[in-house]
Amino acid sequence: MKKSRILGVGHYVPEHVVTNDDLAKMMDTNHEWIVERTGITERHWFTPGVDTVTSMSKNASEMALKRAGVLASEIDFIVFATITPDYFIPGNGVLLQRELGMGTIGALDIRNACSGFIYALSIADQFIKTGMYKKILVVGAEIQSSALDKSDEGRSSSVIFADGAGAIVLGAVESDQPGILSTHLHAQGEYAEELYCSDPGSSREVRISQELIDSGNFNLKMNGNAVFKHAVVRFMEVIKEALEANHLDKSAIDLLIPHQANLRISQYIQQKLGLPDEKVFNNIMHMGNTTAATIPIALSEAWEQGRIKEGDLICLAAFGSGFTWASALLNW
Ligand code: UT7
Repeated sequence: MKKSRILGVGHYVPEHVVTNDDLAKMMDTNHEWIVERTGITERHWFTPGVDTVTSMSKNASEMALKRAGVLASEIDFIVFATITPDYFIPGNGVLLQRELGMGTIGALDIRNACSGFIYALSIADQFIKTGMYKKILVVGAEIQSSALDKSDEGRSSSVIFADGAGAIVLGAVESDQPGILSTHLHAQGEYAEELYCSDPGSSREVRISQELIDSGNFNLKMNGNAVFKHAVVRFMEVIKEALEANHLDKSAIDLLIPHQANLRISQYIQQKLGLPDEKVFNNIMHMGNTTAATIPIALSEAWEQGRIKEGDLICLAAFGSGFTWASALLNW
């Protein structure tokens, strides 16, 4: 059986940088609170008319393809993780396929929020292991800033979320080569409304009405405390599950890349696992939380900074809306 290996990574974030001081002009918040509670100092927000989820993912994908030494025409399939597609219908995978001139290859959209990229990676890994495809483009991209309530009421979420895109090229290699060891996926729909955006939902008489606009229900709603409490438990569980499945000790991890939800969550996991600073990668400080895009953006930045070397054991882990949580263990 074949194994899948990451052949190249890329990312793109919009040029527009929003600092904490910029946010303080929009809502009752301040730089000190945001840094202390989240670790974020700045983030990128899209410019309407310039950036789209498709354009950002195209840029990220082209970088990943170039670094992998793979042509767009060699890609067999796209798995695209986003909860903020450019259109309500169709999904974003087909738009990227069109932009990259990828003929008629299949394109699948994944809507698993912050865990979306690991879900997407897992699906791509299965397709490669069965021999169905040889090269798959796996993407995570989001524009969250247009769904944020930037009033005082929405401040706890609007200081966290941001925009950007990341992509990897996943390729088939022989089973004795480095590559993906395992992926682990979980969900608990019981908590769906702790972090959600209810509208425009399909089960309304009309999908958009003045009443709906006035309700603000098309903005993201998050019970930050509940999400935080579940996240710290599930991150630890799913990382341990990955290590146990591969009979590995936590000391074997060369680099942990947690979903960038909140620096305090990453620091909690680091401390529980007893990992030194050089074994954990965080970029939330200048990227914010870009939902499905955080892990591929972090992978790309970590690779650029020489933090990932051939053969390294990399652990990816995520938690978010759904609730969903997931991990992946791989050798680079
Ligand atoms: O990626 C998907 C998953 N998402 C997450 O993992 C997010 C998890 N949750 C979190 O990161 C944190 O819960 C938040 C950063 C969202 C909030 O931090 P917190 O430490 O849980 O703050 P809190 O909601 O308990 O609020 C503490 C205080 C409150 O004031 P009082 O009631 O103590 O007077 C809030 O009103 O901080 C206030 N507050 C703010 N103050 C200034 C909340 N947001 C802000 C703000 N600026 N932006």
